[in-house]
Amino acid sequence: KRQGPPPSLLTLADLSPGQISRAISHALAIKYVATRLHPRDLPAVLEKQTIALIFSKRSTRTRVASETAAHLLGANAMFLGKEDAQLGVNETLRDTANVVGSMTEGFMARVNAHEEVVELAKHSPVPVINALCDLYHPTQILADLMTLQEAYAPQPLKTKSTSFDAIRTAIRAMKPLECLKGKKMAYVGDTNNISNELLVTVPRLGMEFAIASPEGYNKVDPRVWERVVNAGTENKVTLTTDPMVAIKDADVIVTDTWISMGQESESAARLEAFKGYQVTNELISKAGAKPDWKFMHCLPRHQEEVDDEVFYGNRSLVFPEAENRKWTTAACFGWV
Ligand code: CP
Ligand code: NVA
Repeated sequence: KRQGPPPSLLTLADLSPGQISRAISHALAIKYVATRLHPRDLPAVLEKQTIALIFSKRSTRTRVASETAAHLLGANAMFLGKEDAQLGVNETLRDTANVVGSMTEGFMARVNAHEEVVELAKHSPVPVINALCDLYHPTQILADLMTLQEAYAPQPLKTKSTSFDAIRTAIRAMKPLECLKGKKMAYVGDTNNISNELLVTVPRLGMEFAIASPEGYNKVDPRVWERVVNAGTENKVTLTTDPMVAIKDADVIVTDTWISMGQESESAARLEAFKGYQVTNELISKAGAKPDWKFMHCLPRHQEEVDDEVFYGNRSLVFPEAENRKWTTAACFGWV
């Protein structure tokens, strides 16, 4: 029985914890084979295929991850930026979905409103992966989970085989993400696509999740909260305006920009409102995080939300987290 994700990936809320764990196993296996053996040992499951990268917003990581992941699996990635394609500008998303989908095998789509990626997926004859929208960022959180798995459970692989399938089976047997059960994640900053994606995902994996955001920036979108309620995970979630409360006893501390793409005109008000929310060693030690706390950030990063000491410090997982965008995106593209 095929146990893959649904045809399109709009948010991890649509995947069961088991499916998320399998995606992480897949990503870990791809990384293992590509880096410890040789990329040619990977099955070219997307040979002669094309994935359309339709991006309405800037991107470094998601674009590089998508292009390199497609190449690794034998596919061509066709980048269409906002000046190149008529994404909802001069023709409807429905028409774009039909036309581009008729010539390609998949979409990676970075859009503004969540409804846009929903509309694309509704009309596309091929799978659509959400490459970030205002509400969610599923491929980022897959990379975060893979990074935590590597940080907490770096057991050696129990196989000497060089076959991709045998390696993936051995990784699955390690039950990826089980190691997160009972751990606490603290997100300090804006309630945005990153905190939303974490909110609908990490409590379902058995983590406690606390969000600290200032008044006026602390409302969880009702569409996201509905997913939390439906999953029955409200009791694992703490919403507070106090970063100290969120960080207390945290194993993992996460932040993101205070000014997401598209919010640039609100910069002055946001910089003022978020004063006191910068992640620093002083804040973390005053709040009383776990002694072996770790730090994550999806990037791009600015000084205001986290200082250099934490960002470049030895607790920081930010660069493995960025690299893992490639392996997890490959897992999304090449799910078999
Ligand atoms: N983290 C992330 O999605 O980065 P980009 O916006 O550079 O793709
Ligand atoms: N919240 C940020 C994430 C960037 C990867 C944004 O939407 O701009």
